[in-house]
Amino acid sequence: MSATPAHAGLVLEGVSVRLDGAPLFKIDCHIPPGQILTIMGESGSGKSSLLDFVAGFLRPVFEATGRVILNGEDLTHVPAPERHIGLMFQSPLLFPHMSVLQNLLFAIPPAIKSRSERRQLALQALDDVGLAGFSDRDPATLSGGQQTRVALMRTLLAEPKALLLDEPFSSLDQNRRADVRDLVFRLARKNHLPVLLVTHDAEDGAAASGMTHYLNKEQGGGCSTFKQPRVVSGDQ
Ligand SMILES: Nc1ncnc2c1ncn2[C@@H]1O[C@H](COP(=O)(O)OP(=O)(O)OP(=O)(O)O)[C@@H](O)[C@H]1O
Ligand SMILES: [Mg+2]
Repeated sequence: MSATPAHAGLVLEGVSVRLDGAPLFKIDCHIPPGQILTIMGESGSGKSSLLDFVAGFLRPVFEATGRVILNGEDLTHVPAPERHIGLMFQSPLLFPHMSVLQNLLFAIPPAIKSRSERRQLALQALDDVGLAGFSDRDPATLSGGQQTRVALMRTLLAEPKALLLDEPFSSLDQNRRADVRDLVFRLARKNHLPVLLVTHDAEDGAAASGMTHYLNKEQGGGCSTFKQPRVVSGDQ
């Protein structure tokens, strides 16, 4: 196998987001394929807004500068659906009019044409998160944690090129949390995906075994703090 190209992974170059003219945060980083950068910070420090910017969903109320580069391609002005970035929110958003299996099948790229292969992938994904037998269920009948697991698998089945996780494990109990977290990290590594993980839980950061970047408000007075640029090393 050839060596990983230097430009592989996710680069946030001079990314700065402002709200009402006041700087919220600034970040420079390179997340190599298969590595996880943990983002922590107080509520309101801009963690979700950072992910929104990377995914291409930042609301117009914010002003942003800087570039998002994925595997050498500048995505800054590419529409969100064309970025192929998987985003997982705090609350899982499953399609209510579809069964659990249909939710998963919907995410599988059209390039995989065989019906039986698609079905097998979706069933395996359910099995991977301890939900074998839940295929025909209406998502509304699942617990919050079960919905989270389905939503995570749906995000991964879409074969994203990078993964953005916004407190995705917060609805899971302690044991399930560790299992699902390990599975997501393992799949991200296996698929060489760079991952940005927002969490309030230091254990998530420790499990990610990468670097942690803090967005914070040390200077008080609202959104006034800048964090020094930080580069994630590729050799950990
Ligand atoms: N649509 C909006 N209009 C105006 N201000 C907004 C909007 N969305 C978010 N904000 C503000 O932007 C700032 C950053 O919000 P953001 O959701 O990114 O924070 P966060 O770090 O993800 O917080 P949490 O940990 O609570 O999820 C906050 O001060 C928030 O009030
Ligand atoms: Mg948030």
